Amino acid sequence: EQIKKGSYDHFMQKEIHEQPHSLTTTMRGRVKDSDVLLGGLKEKEYLKTIRRSRRLVFIGCGTSYNAALAARPFVEELTGIPVTMEVASDLLDRQGPIYREDTAFFVSQSGETADTLLALDYALENGALCVGITNTVGSTLSRRTHCGVHINAGCEIGVASTKAYTSQIVVMVMVALAVGSDQISTQVRRQTIISGLSNLPSNASEVLKLDTEMKELASSLIDSESLLVFGRGYNYATALEGALKVKEVALMHSEGMLAGEMKHGPLALVDENLPIIVIATRDACFSKQQSVIQQLLSRKGRLIVMCSKGDASAVCPSGSCRVIEVPEVADCLQPVINIIPLQLLAYHLTVLRGFDVDQPRNLAKSVTTQ
Ligand code: AGP
Repeated sequence: EQIKKGSYDHFMQKEIHEQPHSLTTTMRGRVKDSDVLLGGLKEKEYLKTIRRSRRLVFIGCGTSYNAALAARPFVEELTGIPVTMEVASDLLDRQGPIYREDTAFFVSQSGETADTLLALDYALENGALCVGITNTVGSTLSRRTHCGVHINAGCEIGVASTKAYTSQIVVMVMVALAVGSDQISTQVRRQTIISGLSNLPSNASEVLKLDTEMKELASSLIDSESLLVFGRGYNYATALEGALKVKEVALMHSEGMLAGEMKHGPLALVDENLPIIVIATRDACFSKQQSVIQQLLSRKGRLIVMCSKGDASAVCPSGSCRVIEVPEVADCLQPVINIIPLQLLAYHLTVLRGFDVDQPRNLAKSVTTQ
């Protein structure tokens, strides 16, 4: 086991640091100069069927659901097809509508999650085209779906999913690029994203240099009872996923929240003690996040702001926030970079709080029961 961990103390730590490599293997042979080739969707004209869909339904649990949520805005943008999000268990509880004209995407690292597989049976019964996005070749999910794309992130052992999350987002970006490749109006945007994909592994290496800074941040939060994470737009999923990591491994109460909802309740929690992470990297929502930061500061909020490199004074002119500066990448790829410091934070918090990193209390890597 020690050999497999190499020079790392834990699998989660190793898997976080492997991301420049896992992102490379996810894209290998698939991203060409101005095109994306996904063998799993080529056969039987699946791409054409997806393009004709009335809507796309993204289905998953936990981190895999969050990856699909991160993908939603750019999939809608690049394909022009509406996306509906479904937590697998909730779709089943509601027996929500799934139509023959839908394409259902099932996102799962293991490909064996019971709720996701039952949702797959349900979608198959209802006649939808079912596409699997999984890390596990030969898994039940990859066998039962009509077609799919393997994320090729390499074996993930830590119960907390890290490198699978970033690779799942990248696969969804590639799917969006492939499905939307017939749209003339988005050609320039597509090219920007394709170039961004090529530079993503080096940007992931860059952001991993924040390791020591995140360890220091973790030591300042070690005794906190709770942590809020505010995100919006492309980074709403980053807020949910960052909070999920802290919750599941560091065993600290943490909630990811839509910053646009702050005024509708969560603002009441703000005081000088509760740590709040605000994700405010550059994208179309940037000025809205600047205003969220001002509102939180005026309530004496204890803020940690994640911003694009060089933006510290733009996000916090008073200098009263702790700032985490990350490399700026194409807006829709930013969630891949932004989650990495939060994974590092969750990892260090867990070690400092003395909990089991790779085998958190009460959790299993693959949830094969309902
Ligand atoms: C991730 O850190 C969690 N352990 C958990 O939420 C997980 O993502 C979920 O159980 C889904 O697993 P899957 O991707 O294998 O389907």
